[in-house]
Amino acid sequence: MRTRAPPQPFHGRHIMATSPDALADALTLPGPVGADRRGWRRAYDADPAGFLSASQERWGDTFTLDKNLVVVGDPDMAHQILVATDRESVIGPDRLEGRFPTAEETREWMGTRKLIGRVLTPQAVRGQLPRLEQAVSTGLESLAGGGPFDPMAVTHETCLRAFLPMYLPGPAPAVVSALRDSIRAALVLADAGVHLPRWWPSSMRRRVLTARRRVHAELRALITAQRPDDQVPSDSPTLSDLLRTASVPTDQAVHVLGNALSKGLPATAGAWSWLLHDLAARPDDMARIRDEAIACRASGEELSYTRAFVRESMRTHPPAWLLARETTAPTAVSERCTVPAGTTLFVSPYLIHRDPRYWPDPHRFTPDRWTSPHTERHRYAYLPFGAGPRVCVGLHLGEVLLTLTAARIATDHHLTVTTPATAPAFRSVLQPTGIRLQLTRRAPGA
Ligand code: HEM
Repeated sequence: MRTRAPPQPFHGRHIMATSPDALADALTLPGPVGADRRGWRRAYDADPAGFLSASQERWGDTFTLDKNLVVVGDPDMAHQILVATDRESVIGPDRLEGRFPTAEETREWMGTRKLIGRVLTPQAVRGQLPRLEQAVSTGLESLAGGGPFDPMAVTHETCLRAFLPMYLPGPAPAVVSALRDSIRAALVLADAGVHLPRWWPSSMRRRVLTARRRVHAELRALITAQRPDDQVPSDSPTLSDLLRTASVPTDQAVHVLGNALSKGLPATAGAWSWLLHDLAARPDDMARIRDEAIACRASGEELSYTRAFVRESMRTHPPAWLLARETTAPTAVSERCTVPAGTTLFVSPYLIHRDPRYWPDPHRFTPDRWTSPHTERHRYAYLPFGAGPRVCVGLHLGEVLLTLTAARIATDHHLTVTTPATAPAFRSVLQPTGIRLQLTRRAPGA
């Protein structure tokens, strides 16, 4: 009953439509159409980014891997496709449902997105800085007490605890534990890349549904318990405060909070793990970040080198390394080619971030490429958060969380590699594998 598909991209999937029109249009694009498909799939599975990169070199910026599967490597075109999301294409599909969202569901989500966005504006995130800093410090302290750790094994819980103060007043251990289980179950499903009919009683799917129900039950209990006498702080309301003051019905509030807490976590977790991977490998940069953090604490200036380090980390390893769209209308994929509805489009931030036409010496980790005022950058060649109407709603929070984490590690801790990383895993989220790190508290005055 199982059909296997290639690994799932972030928020996307492969499809196998076979309309003659799709074939005719796709054939105007270069690529291994008509060749042994299992051949390219094997090559893709073995080394997804290497295969896509070699294909781009061979076939050019826009190429087709199958009748209805097109990869777009030109940043202007990629940006145009992302900007046309919800008009010419959809992000798809809900992996549990195995189908794309309806227009009504998309409209509903855009309303939810607006509510979530209100607690994630740059100003709102700045208002939460003390809470965020405290949460980041506490998370790192608990890691510093233990032995070597795999960053991917601890990242979800650590990032979740840091997000929580934006969403809920006070600690919520039952919510954290339910969310951690729910996200792990969802990642197993996503990484399996298995499409099953909706009615098929898969244990993977059952686990995700059970975990999601538990999250909703915990959130419902929390919201209901808080409702009667809560005082909302006017300067930095949490998302649950906003939902309460806007009299959002409990069912909807549970849905909004569940989405806000879970949707951004996999990518943040990947970025956090790569950040630690990069910091541990670069003691000289760590020293520079530490000096900057100490100087800025006194002067109140921005942590510009630390932020540059974070950006470079997300350039070299964008967690959402492959974005997918399913076209719902004819869509231009190059100057000369428009593909029909029903085509899957892949845009890879990973490939664009390592393209030497836009990034000199692209495989070198160089934070200073972000600090020099003389560096010219292509305006769409950096896409760690996507672009267009479905751009990451948590991008400010993500960047701030990572910047605070880097600064805290550099000032308060030593971070070392005890086991080096093996090849990165290009799953639904790009992640380091094999690595073990050790975090130890810095002695006072050291
Ligand atoms: C460094 C951390 C993060 C990275 C790299 C990241 C990356 C992304 C990317 C690339 C997308 C767009 C996917 C697409 O176009 O297919 C996205 C969407 C999204 N992100 Fe993030 N994200 C991060 C942090 C966060 C945080 C902290 C939150 C919220 C707490 C968040 C919430 C969301 C949501 C709700 C969406 C869906 C937007 C929509 O479909 O309308 N993200 N993220």
